[in-house]
Amino acid sequence: MAKPLSLEKILFSQGFGTRRYCSDLVYADLVQVNGVLAEDPEARLSTEGLILNVEGQDWEFHEKAYIAFNKPPNYECSHKTTHHPSVYSLLPKPFVERGLQCVGRLDFDTTGLILISDDGQFIHRMTTPKKNIGKVYEITTPEPITQKQMDHLLSGVVLDDDPKPCYATACEQLGEHVLAMTIVEGRYHQVKRMMAAVGNHVRYHQVKRMMAAVGNHVAKLHRTKIGQYVMPESLKEGEWCWLYPQDLQLLSKSVDAPLV
Ligand code: URA
Repeated sequence: MAKPLSLEKILFSQGFGTRRYCSDLVYADLVQVNGVLAEDPEARLSTEGLILNVEGQDWEFHEKAYIAFNKPPNYECSHKTTHHPSVYSLLPKPFVERGLQCVGRLDFDTTGLILISDDGQFIHRMTTPKKNIGKVYEITTPEPITQKQMDHLLSGVVLDDDPKPCYATACEQLGEHVLAMTIVEGRYHQVKRMMAAVGNHVRYHQVKRMMAAVGNHVAKLHRTKIGQYVMPESLKEGEWCWLYPQDLQLLSKSVDAPLV
């Protein structure tokens, strides 16, 4: 059982501001604890199942935060962005205040599932290829997908910056122009470069320029699944949800683990 903590410390740990500011929130009658107006910032509370309400917003206590976010297009997964707004601008302020980080990155034009957390060990576990955790991408291509291309992706593709091939661990054709591909690594622009390599045998950036010239460079990329955790259909673009222990278990299932 977790040690009781003062309300002020709890609010601080959840990202509501400095301890002084958190204390002032309580004195300003802006904090409720499990539905009851809080009066004393020093009151010691159990954090188990604790529901805070801060400035009218309900907030579950989470010692470490694990969230799933459905990334919209045209956002960058970085705090210091270059050309587009940051995904962090779409999250509640306390998340940013308590230092949540994206687990890996998606390109600005890629959509779908991204994990965000303040647990460094979790971030490491989810990003190291050693854990063999698959990520499933739905890829929409301008040209029809062929069996030969899928065979090539499964047997390994050599990219231009590394002689070691990268593999799709699974490929499933979902439509003439739509492929669901699973990969375990997270190399730079990996999916786009793999697709470029099986289609054209030229560099990704070259392909982009060539396709742009004919007005057909838009391939959609959408991540739907990590490990055995599938992004819920109810999670709309730009929305986030908490991940609970059962979700974390599914997330850490490797590609070779049996399906449950
Ligand atoms: N591979 C890519 O090319 N882009 C992404 O955003 C993710 C994987």
